[in-house]
Amino acid sequence: MLVLGIETSCDETGIALYHSLEGLVSHTLYSQVKLHADYGGVVPELASRDHIRKIIPLIEETMRKADVKSEDIDGIAYTRGPGLIGALLVGSSVGRSLGYAWNKPTIGVHHMEGHLLAPLLDNDHIDFPFVALLVSGGHSMLVNVTAIGEYEVLGESLDDAAGEAFDKTAKLLGLDYPGGPMLARLAEKGTSGRFKFPRPMTDRPGLEFSFSGLKTFAANTINNLKKEGKLSQQDKADIALAFQEAVVDTLIIKCRRALEQCGVKQLVIAGGVSANKMLREKVSELMTNMNGKILYPSLEFCTDNGAMIAYAGAQRLLAGQTDECSEQVLPRWPLSDLTPLR
Ligand code: KG4
Ligand code: ZN
Repeated sequence: MLVLGIETSCDETGIALYHSLEGLVSHTLYSQVKLHADYGGVVPELASRDHIRKIIPLIEETMRKADVKSEDIDGIAYTRGPGLIGALLVGSSVGRSLGYAWNKPTIGVHHMEGHLLAPLLDNDHIDFPFVALLVSGGHSMLVNVTAIGEYEVLGESLDDAAGEAFDKTAKLLGLDYPGGPMLARLAEKGTSGRFKFPRPMTDRPGLEFSFSGLKTFAANTINNLKKEGKLSQQDKADIALAFQEAVVDTLIIKCRRALEQCGVKQLVIAGGVSANKMLREKVSELMTNMNGKILYPSLEFCTDNGAMIAYAGAQRLLAGQTDECSEQVLPRWPLSDLTPLR
């Protein structure tokens, strides 16, 4: 089955063609980062308008690159939620209009299910159950995955998502939006141990996260240095490293807890923050110590992309699921509400 995938939930227009037997056939990605950089964050109305400008040329380009014609396509998957409502409406309207025009089935995909299954784009096999740590700009959660579509959310962030905390702290350090990857780069020059940030909510049981306090801690540290009349580039790098270590440590502690609670030894990490090098190293270390297995997406599929939507959509279309014409986008959509495949 050949599936066209369309991702437009936030500030990336991602288009892909995925074949259930041959794997990823072709994909294109357009990032709106430059458009939003001046505002220090995503401006929803600008995001929707830019998706409208880019979506059709990108679909044409993706099909042309693989020499695929509309009649070769068996189904269309688009991101139905969660995300920005205007942005979601662009992808869902185009996806379903193409489905109607080409007479192909369509399926609305949960963006976080896309992230969760992204590691399977390169690894065609994983045994169930496993624990998934999903860390993106909008969400942080630990999920017990017993099958595709069967997701028990074990814990979520009570305030800022991990990526959001990275971006806000990066902004405090004077870095451009989205600052997560830049903060990580700055942290490479930092000296460990100079500043000690808290590990939020690790001193009590449970799998919830809270990252907003870390941003405040960073703000106070920066302001104290500024009051003393000094905030050197080295200070900034040391703060970036201390912040990153705190986030990574906290995630590792909670991953270990979740794995022990579920009695499983397989961990998947996905979402934009799973591109973080320190997180990947520490998670690998954890799984080696636990004699377990770790799986993460290749770097290009950690952040938003159309391939993960095409993949997740293909699994659902193959199981016979399709959309009704009246289906609406779901800007808020709990992962645990998804219908199982079997
Ligand atoms: O999954 P994603 O592309 O979008 C959402 O679904 O939200 O995640 C984007 C987030 C941003 O907050 C970005 O700063 C963060 O992922 N991110 C990183 C890194 N690469 C992306 N955070 C830390 N280190 C990185 N290397
Ligand atoms: Zn995402």
